[in-house]
Amino acid sequence: MKGVILAGGSGTRLHPLTRITNKHLLPLYDRPMVTYAVEALVGAGIDELMLVTGGTHAGEFFRLLGNGHDYGIERLFYGYQEEAGGIADALGLAERFVARDKVCVLLADNIFERSLQPIVENFERQPAGARIVLSEVAEEEHLRHLGVAVMAGDRVTAIVEKPESPPSRFAVTGIYFYDAQVWEVLPTLEPSGRGELEITDVNNWYVGRGEMEADVVDGFWGDAGESIEAYYEVNDFVRGTRG
Ligand code: DAU
Repeated sequence: MKGVILAGGSGTRLHPLTRITNKHLLPLYDRPMVTYAVEALVGAGIDELMLVTGGTHAGEFFRLLGNGHDYGIERLFYGYQEEAGGIADALGLAERFVARDKVCVLLADNIFERSLQPIVENFERQPAGARIVLSEVAEEEHLRHLGVAVMAGDRVTAIVEKPESPPSRFAVTGIYFYDAQVWEVLPTLEPSGRGELEITDVNNWYVGRGEMEADVVDGFWGDAGESIEAYYEVNDFVRGTRG
């Protein structure tokens, strides 16, 4: 399975910090944010990676990660997103890298306490389709800033992006698994109200075909790009566990 780390976008919710650097280069405790995503995938056994970024600070990722060997990456490729056209747009840059393989996509602002390895293994065993990872979030305010699953028992029947009134407590985290059908779905997407190609539309395509599985993650999960408060919440968590 190949891994794709998405570290583009404009990071407007963390302005003015992200006017002077890329969000994923900001510190989480003692090292740049993106290194946690690298560690999470390498620790789960995925060591062929592509990092997609954009903007004026893209060169800093080379300075930080180089060829990836110091981080346990076997082969590291880079993709450059010309404009922040959305998560699904950024993923499109990885098509030739992934080819017909399965892919695990991780947003570089997501931090997971627990190892992702059991989830990666679940997708390895899955014959086809896609897989998402849910996290139970208590506060409605958080849920309004995320993708939220509509549930029927333990099945996901739809995903609603940034719902005014959240249909469940299960947030869709920023790790996604796809088979090669994803490359046929991406060109069919239309920009959303925020002018982006939404990963939630990709996920709902799989849900609609009955080809979406989900895991619920235990332990802490945070999206450090959600707001400045969330950024510090994730920082506090990382410092508390690694400091
Ligand atoms: O963190 C989980 C959430 O991530 C999910 O619950 C949502 O369903 C999903 O849409 C996404 O929501 P965000 O609003 O947090 O996405 P954001 O625009 O912040 O982008 C998340 C990451 O994706 C960002 O850290 C880098 C990457 N990205 C984003 C955009 C818009 C790119 O690489 N290129 C882009 O153009």
